[in-house]
Amino acid sequence: MTVTTLNEFIIERQADFPYAKGELTRLLTHIGVAAKVVNREVNKAGLVDILGDAGSDNIQGEQQKKLDVYADEKFIASLKASGECCGIASEERKKIVSFDEEMARNGKYIVAIDPLDGSSNIDVNVSIGTIFSIYRRISPVGHKAGIEDFLQKGKEQVAAGYIIYGSSTMMVYTTGRGVNGFTLDPSIGEFCLSHPDILTPHSGIIYSINEGNYIKFPEGVKKYIKYCQEKDVPTGRPFTSRYIGSLVADFHRNLLKGGIFIYPKTAGYPTGKLRLLYECNPMAFVIEQAGGRATDGRGNRILDMKPVELHQRSPFFLGSRNMVNKAEEFMKEFGDKEPNMDDIK
Ligand code: AHG
Ligand code: MN
Ligand code: MN
Repeated sequence: MTVTTLNEFIIERQADFPYAKGELTRLLTHIGVAAKVVNREVNKAGLVDILGDAGSDNIQGEQQKKLDVYADEKFIASLKASGECCGIASEERKKIVSFDEEMARNGKYIVAIDPLDGSSNIDVNVSIGTIFSIYRRISPVGHKAGIEDFLQKGKEQVAAGYIIYGSSTMMVYTTGRGVNGFTLDPSIGEFCLSHPDILTPHSGIIYSINEGNYIKFPEGVKKYIKYCQEKDVPTGRPFTSRYIGSLVADFHRNLLKGGIFIYPKTAGYPTGKLRLLYECNPMAFVIEQAGGRATDGRGNRILDMKPVELHQRSPFFLGSRNMVNKAEEFMKEFGDKEPNMDDIK
């Protein structure tokens, strides 16, 4: 049996981009290397004194875990070392990181990253991940990266994907020519092509939403949840509810099995919780490439949104095409306005 490693695959696919000189290849390879380093730490999280809070808050006021900080540093160091990346936006950093070294200033790409996604699950041995999004810079090569490089629409992404540190570790990514998944073989330390040309089913039977927030949801979401729970044999309802609380893990399951993931506006998060640049856009690129849909629940494609700030949030509906369409019908009919916090206290 022949095995294709991530590096072999990336090099083979370079031919898909006639004008590419290998820069994106090197960048993706470095993401794979950082993923292995982070994977090693994630795997021994219970063994070493790496669990627990780092004692600092990130800019969204959420407590950072030590592994958040570790993953952030490792990915930034690896991307910088690639020489192809001139700047990075990270969930863990208030401002963009623009490299000043000559080699990095000549890099053609910028990366937006959620270094450790689902960090509330670290301490309990539940799957977590890393999400990345790559753009060609728009500022001139030779200069430091600027904020404009990061505020591009998601449809401008040249590559995006995620790493899931699960029961096995996988990297799944797209460069706009389909979606491919690689499983890390720990015995040889290589990501091996295990899920070529991933397509998501047009309809699924899984819905994923934090139902604990039910009273905080817009009416359209509440009604859609009830629809999912009703019996209707032809459509496979009642659907199955699955929610891990790590976007990467919830997304990965639904990508393979078919389903819908929703993080709507809520009374607590009036613009949604998930961040457009390094959570919504990369996942939207992957799901569209796999034949699914990603919108804000109001018919607006995530990849068409023009970001205005780095850590902007968006309501997020994504997954199997027919399920997203159905959820949007409910939003349209019953309303997408989140309730007022005072009204539900
Ligand atoms: P992060 O750990 O990077 O801050 O992301 C957590 C996100 C995402 O992974 C997940 O889908 C969502 O938060 C869960 O939020 P709730 O706990 O509000 O459901
Ligand atoms: Mn996240
Ligand atoms: Mn995170």
